[in-house]
Amino acid sequence: MKNGKYLVGVVGAGGIGRYHIDGWKKIHDVVVYGISDVSQQYLDEVSKKYEIPVAVKDYKKLIDIEEIDIIDICTPNAFHYPVTIAALKNGKHVICEKPLATSSKDVEKMIQVAKENKRKLMAAQNQRFTQTGKMTKAMIDQGIFGEIYFAQCYAVRRRELPPRDTFIKKELSGGGPMFDIGVHILDITYWFMGCPVVHSVKGVTFTKLAKNDDITGTWGQWDTKKFEVEDFASGFVLFKDGRALQLTCSFLSNLPSNLSAHLYGTKAGMIWPEMKMFSEIKGLHCDSTLTPIVPDNEPSHHRELAHFLECVKENREVLVKPEESLGVIKILEAMYISDQKKKEVVF
Ligand SMILES: NC(=O)c1ccc[n+]([C@@H]2O[C@H](COP(=O)([O-])OP(=O)(O)OC[C@H]3O[C@@H](n4cnc5c(N)ncnc54)[C@H](O)[C@@H]3O)[C@@H](O)[C@H]2O)c1
Repeated sequence: MKNGKYLVGVVGAGGIGRYHIDGWKKIHDVVVYGISDVSQQYLDEVSKKYEIPVAVKDYKKLIDIEEIDIIDICTPNAFHYPVTIAALKNGKHVICEKPLATSSKDVEKMIQVAKENKRKLMAAQNQRFTQTGKMTKAMIDQGIFGEIYFAQCYAVRRRELPPRDTFIKKELSGGGPMFDIGVHILDITYWFMGCPVVHSVKGVTFTKLAKNDDITGTWGQWDTKKFEVEDFASGFVLFKDGRALQLTCSFLSNLPSNLSAHLYGTKAGMIWPEMKMFSEIKGLHCDSTLTPIVPDNEPSHHRELAHFLECVKENREVLVKPEESLGVIKILEAMYISDQKKKEVVF
């Protein structure tokens, strides 16, 4: 802390890093004190635009600054683990972009180091901070849907492949759409279902379109020769309590883009985030569309940063518990293993 303000250091000044800085700037008792990026051009641009005093290539120099309270990690997925461990060991609280890490072993270690150092750790699963997400979860917890016994969730994009190395080189991303966007819809659906214990996972992946030079993207063209991850993945999760979930993700598909969770409840069903609810009341088959009273007028990414700060200040438990992120990463990891071994992975 300095002059009564919480100091934040952001590691990774690319797309989402800048969006996070916008969010931190809205909070009156926070100062973005430093940034780190391996690109000198990004350091120059971002430190000038946002008037950030410290801009360093080596993230270790940032986490060495004693006054910094929070490290916000916005690097490619592969660096989430080493930066988190170094920051926690230096006594910093860590909010880290999704996926929390690219292996369950790494997430387990991150949780252990956070506990040893008594620091907060949270994956930036912003979908949980949408008004529709919060309202759906509250309704589920009040029993309005009965038992959610099955869910089908989709993170499907028609032609929206991020063309940067961060997302297409396996050593940086750890995986394709399953790790990049599947993690969003799986995290919120798993949370809606109460984070049940997993029994088994079966997954398949395909790379059918991304290496074809005739396929065009609406977010720019990627280097088809560099493309190392899947462009489509799907899997089935069976929970120990007998409930189940199906996940489908794609960067490129010949179907409409669709980020949604279809929740099958014994009293009512829901398509999130459209908030379409289907039920039967005394023999009447009712369909309705719900509207949260609080409008979604602030980005969920910014709300998640404000929440994390409150948890740090008041020593409260974070909404996205790292143990829940561990459950999510275990499922995704098992889907890749199942695909490689061509069989179900039993936990
Ligand atoms: N929550 C969301 O909605 C959302 C959206 C986009 C990206 N993300 C996540 O954010 C992360 C970054 O994605 P992005 O779109 O900003 O990617 P990006 O490629 O735009 O930015 C990543 C930045 O990290 C920098 N970097 C790489 N290695 C580094 C290191 N060792 N130290 C410091 N900086 C380093 C790169 O130079 C680059 O500027 C990924 O984990 C991604 O999954 C989340």
